[in-house]
Amino acid sequence: MAAIICSTRESQEEWLAEFKRQAPDLDLRIWPDVGNVDDITHAIVSQPPLGALASLPNLTHIHSLWAGIDHITRDPDRPTNTPIIRMVDYGLSQGMMEYTVGHTLRYHLNMPFFEAEQAAGRWSWQPPPLSEDRSVGILGLGTLGQITAKQLLSLGFKVSGWSRNSKEIEGITSYAGNGGLEAFLNQVEILICLLPNTPETTDLLNAKTLKMLPKGAAIINAGRGELITDADLIDALDKAHITGATLDVFREEPLPSDHPYWQHPKVTITPHVAADTRLSTGVSTVLNNMKHLDKGDALSALPGVVDNKAGY
Ligand code: NDP
Ligand code: OXD
Repeated sequence: MAAIICSTRESQEEWLAEFKRQAPDLDLRIWPDVGNVDDITHAIVSQPPLGALASLPNLTHIHSLWAGIDHITRDPDRPTNTPIIRMVDYGLSQGMMEYTVGHTLRYHLNMPFFEAEQAAGRWSWQPPPLSEDRSVGILGLGTLGQITAKQLLSLGFKVSGWSRNSKEIEGITSYAGNGGLEAFLNQVEILICLLPNTPETTDLLNAKTLKMLPKGAAIINAGRGELITDADLIDALDKAHITGATLDVFREEPLPSDHPYWQHPKVTITPHVAADTRLSTGVSTVLNNMKHLDKGDALSALPGVVDNKAGY
């Protein structure tokens, strides 16, 4: 029994070093130096090359180093019956909460407006409302959406969330399913997107749904680029229906140098840094999951087991 690390973005060597530090006896190999493919039972991956997973005949589990698994499911040849366990990690959750709350506060405090006024040398006295008079909505009330929602609630914001299944979380208004989307969007001034990329969520924010937001709403997308129809967002920004967008994720990463987002005055770009799996907590999460699985514990007892049908 052995595991393989297979990622294209993160440094495989850094992961290997941390795995060796925490589990010196684990037989761990680095893609593409697999050795005997029959040995490999666990794959620890972020963006595995197409076909890599299909080349491991005895794979029992796929561990994603990322929370999103669309870089795994995009591979048509992957073994579809092999369970995927996505990353549920303290560092990832804490980082995402800091990112989304920080950018929410930036819009709440009207900072893009004051920065523009400063550049123009204007003293524009327009105090922002208190948080209790600001409505923040989160698309996706899963692991990352909930930690964000709770922190925003503790800062006094009016917080709501939209998910597939309705939620009961004290202080947070829950909207669910396609039937609940319009009512949710209608009342959101700052929209945070933390949905996974699935066939159901692709292009969810388009010309029609962006119009459901009140005029002047701001958008923070740290979920996936595919959630937004880019041309429709740019149009809504140009028409001042949407006041600003902070985008961390894109359909193509790195964002191509000629993409209109780069130069758009109402767009803030960050390069997929909203949350990162931290080496030490990420490795201990994977090791802990492997330990339980090798002991024969039920898969369902682990956090982050992907529902293959739902795609997240
Ligand atoms: P979870 O699986 O815990 O949460 C996903 C949420 O989305 C759930 O609330 C789920 O609803 C909801 N959802 C999924 N599909 C639909 C749908 N069709 N309609 C309505 N709601 C839907 O994921 P995480 O919170 O851990 O991560 C969310 C995403 O954040 C990741 O998939 C990834 O794309 C992105 N991410 C980005 C990072 C970055 O650095 N930018 C870092 C980490 C993650 P329900 O609760 O009902 O199941
Ligand atoms: C992601 C991650 O899913 O960085 O984007 O975990």
